[in-house]
Amino acid sequence: MRDTNESYRIHHADCLEINAVEPESLFDLIYLEPEASISSEELAVRVSSLLPHLTEEGFLLLHADVERAHAYKSILDVFGLPFKGDVIWCYRQRAVKTKALQNHRDTILVYSANPHYYPKRHLLAQPLVGPSSAERVGLSGQKPMELYKRLFRFFERYHRIATVLDPMMGSGSALVAALEQGRTVTGFDTSLEACRITENRLRLAIPASQQLVMELE
Ligand SMILES: C[S@@+](CC[C@H](N)C(=O)[O-])C[C@H]1O[C@@H](n2cnc3c(N)ncnc32)[C@H](O)[C@@H]1O
Repeated sequence: MRDTNESYRIHHADCLEINAVEPESLFDLIYLEPEASISSEELAVRVSSLLPHLTEEGFLLLHADVERAHAYKSILDVFGLPFKGDVIWCYRQRAVKTKALQNHRDTILVYSANPHYYPKRHLLAQPLVGPSSAERVGLSGQKPMELYKRLFRFFERYHRIATVLDPMMGSGSALVAALEQGRTVTGFDTSLEACRITENRLRLAIPASQQLVMELE
C-alpha cells in the first residue's frame, strides 16, 4: 500500500525500505518512536538507512521511555550526528496523592548538525490522550497531537521544518499534527491497521492545512 497526496505519503512498509521507495527524499525533521521490543541491531540498521534522508541542518528526534533512553543514546552516538540534549515530556494526567517520587515522563533525544541549536534540556508538560478524548483512535502508544505540534513549533525556531518523516508512525499523530501546521509529511508502518488509520486521519486533516496556507497568503 502506498498512499500519496501532494501533502502526504504513506508507505505500508518497513522503514528499512526508505531507499527503495523514497530514494531522493530529504526531511527537515525525522521523528522516530520505535516499539519497546526493538533490538539494538534492528534500531541501528534502521537509523543508518534513515540518516541520509535528513537535511544538513535538520533534526532527528528519537523518542524513548524511561527504561530505554540510555540504550538508545549509546546506539545513536556511533553514527556521529551531534547529540544536542533532550526534551523531557512530562505527562502526568492527574494529581497523585502518594509522596513517592513519580516517573511519568519520556525522553526525546535530539540529534542535529544545526549550528544554531546548542545542547540543552527542555521540559514539556503535556497530558496523555485521555480515555474519552475525541483524538483517541484505539492504537496503543498513541501520543497527543499537541505534543507534536509544540515540538515542531519549537524546532522551527532553528530551522524551517517543511518536511517531516515518521518512519514508525503508529496512530499517525505526529504526521497529522505536522500536516495541520502546513508541512509535507511522509510515514511508514509495517501494520496495515496503522496505515489505514493514519491515512484516514490525514485525509480529514487536509482541509485544516489548506486553510492555514490560505491564511498565510
Ligand atoms: C510505538 S509505535 C508509534 C506510536 C506513535 N508515535 C503514535 O503516536 O501513535 C511504533 C509503531 O512502529 C511500527 N513499526 C514497528 N517496526 C517497524 C518498522 N521496522 N518499520 C515501520 N514501522 C514499524 C509499529 O507497527 C507501530 O505502529
